[in-house]
Amino acid sequence: MKSLTSNPLFLESQIPGNVLKVEGLTYAYPQQQAVLRDISFSLNLGDRVALMGATGSGKSTLLENIIGLKQPQKGQIWIRNIPVEPNTLTRIRQHIGFGFQDANDQLFMPTVLEDITFGPRNYGTPPAIAIDKARQLLIDFGLEPYANRSVHELSGGQRRLVALAAILALEPDILILDEPTTGLDPAWRRTLAHILLQLPAQAMLIASHDLHWLGRVTQRALVMAGGYISINAEIQPLLQDWQTLERVGLPIDW
Ligand SMILES: Nc1ncnc2c1ncn2[C@@H]1O[C@H](COP(=O)(O)OP(=O)(O)O)[C@@H](O)[C@H]1O
Ligand SMILES: [Mg+2]
Repeated sequence: MKSLTSNPLFLESQIPGNVLKVEGLTYAYPQQQAVLRDISFSLNLGDRVALMGATGSGKSTLLENIIGLKQPQKGQIWIRNIPVEPNTLTRIRQHIGFGFQDANDQLFMPTVLEDITFGPRNYGTPPAIAIDKARQLLIDFGLEPYANRSVHELSGGQRRLVALAAILALEPDILILDEPTTGLDPAWRRTLAHILLQLPAQAMLIASHDLHWLGRVTQRALVMAGGYISINAEIQPLLQDWQTLERVGLPIDW
């Protein structure tokens, strides 16, 4: 067996400090005003952070910049001290599990089981091991009866769960999720919270409007408004501060 210390990913995992760092990020869609303006923040080891903000405030755009799907006009992003650039994307994506806002963007295999085994098999996990792992995830997510069905036969919430299982199958050490509770009923929102809280992930960044759920899963909140991060604070006091939430377009009782 290859020695752990000769594995470059292992060495990268030993680098202290920021797991994710964003500095001076500015992004505009073509022929539009900037959606992200001079955004800076970082996530340290063990951080679970909520990304909040009204619809259209730029949450999805920010997450897509972080994983290199979009290139900023200004600024820099580092994942574990590796700059996010076109030539580092393959390496960086081995660390990150990213859940799209629309689960349909992520699911493309003929069956649920194949969608979940696709990533690990692509990274060289032997098929039998990938299938065992997928079956356990299907049990965790209550999807076992659907293993051999097409995702087109599932509800929106069930597709969301398949997409999450497919991400977790890769055992990412940084988890970035865009609106993960969309379409899930309260019992599944609770189950998902338990699953996320038990993961050994090094850091999580979760965009959502589900303020109470975020309060259970994350410790800190970044709130986007007007293209800026207008608040970077502990989440519990923020959830009590309805006037501030109202001001940033997030009325808590709605
Ligand atoms: N492909 C696109 N082309 C032009 N503008 C876009 C595109 N996608 C999103 N936008 C605009 O960027 C802003 C931020 O969108 P988005 O990042 O999806 O916000 P959020 O995820 O917070 O709802 C919105 O004003 C939206 O209309
Ligand atoms: Mg969004």
